[in-house]
Amino acid sequence: MQSSQSIESSLSPLVPAYASILSLAPYQTGKPVEELTREYGISDVVKLASNENPVGCSPKVTLAITEQLGQLARYPDGNGYYLKQALADFNDVNVDQITLGNGSDDLLDILARSFVGAGDAIVYSQYAFVVYSMLAKMQGAMDVEVPAQRFGHDLKAMSQAVQDNPNTKLVFIANPNNPTGTQLAHKELHAFVASVPSSVLVVLDEAYIEYSPESNNRALLDEFDNVVIVRTFSKAYGLAGLRVGYALSSVAVADLLNRIRQPFNVSRIGLAAAAAALADQDFIERTRLMNDEQMRWLEKQFDALGLGFIKSHANFIMVKIEVEMEDITAASIHEALLEQGVIIRPLAAYGLHNWLRITVGLAEDNLRLIDTLRSILTDD
Ligand SMILES: Cc1ncc(COP(=O)(O)O)c(C=O)c1O
Repeated sequence: MQSSQSIESSLSPLVPAYASILSLAPYQTGKPVEELTREYGISDVVKLASNENPVGCSPKVTLAITEQLGQLARYPDGNGYYLKQALADFNDVNVDQITLGNGSDDLLDILARSFVGAGDAIVYSQYAFVVYSMLAKMQGAMDVEVPAQRFGHDLKAMSQAVQDNPNTKLVFIANPNNPTGTQLAHKELHAFVASVPSSVLVVLDEAYIEYSPESNNRALLDEFDNVVIVRTFSKAYGLAGLRVGYALSSVAVADLLNRIRQPFNVSRIGLAAAAAALADQDFIERTRLMNDEQMRWLEKQFDALGLGFIKSHANFIMVKIEVEMEDITAASIHEALLEQGVIIRPLAAYGLHNWLRITVGLAEDNLRLIDTLRSILTDD
């Protein structure tokens, strides 16, 4: 990547809206399967890097998509009428409390663009989803990163950070958090929201809520107009490739977000697929059960390999690479796994140099991961 100074000189005389944009590093996605096949000539690839659902999606989605294929020349319904109706019933909110997004990333972006400007501050936790700090830089805002507590959000310190930075407009909280998998107690979250001024928007990012239904903080919406809940169809619903997310908020906040979003930010296929996926809650239940079972299995294997991990409430787990062998590091294990067709996620970008994040896969994927990991660690 170019340094900010060399980008600055090659852009000149053009100048980005905010100097902070120059310090942005592009978001690093999990390596696509196709790329590994191309680079390493491996066809049998297992991807455990982007917290996708290894089962795929509900079979009902395929039917819903097929029904749309004859209509692709027509714009989608810009208001997402049917999907919003379904989401309103599912979440027990009014339709006008919903904003749809092209994935939940789109909503996080719309929220930052709607509420945060140059000189304002965004507060978030160390080790929280990396997009939050990127959004602060994009908006020319201050990013206030609050040190984590046992890898999770330290809500008392975050509340203090809001107090110390009266220019705070937005707080991002991921629950469960990516990449740590940590979860917050309702009581503490409630106390946090009650502690911040009502002029500060608290965004609860619940991308992994289906794996941890007890983390559902929908009730906060009834009490606080400055709470927004953001969810996605990319994870448990298995629609990452389609890009659909939604935000639940007060009517006034939704009204604002709906002015900022692009008129057709969710495609015709995305709308139909998400509605069909939402209607199949049995699929979500099966996904959760499989994830729980495989998570327990992986934990046992990491114990047996002598690798530490953080208890996770989502569909991925953070594993510590701290072995006695000198030449083994998280980066070298990541590379060795890639060479053998297993894609996982290194976490150096989060400052977690000794850690790897592994998405829970199908039983056979997890077995392959553990067998490959064992052979790397024991050098056989
Ligand atoms: C915590 C969190 N929020 C939001 C997202 C964005 O997901 P999407 O844009 O696919 O909905 C992710 C994806 O990894 C995530 O981990």
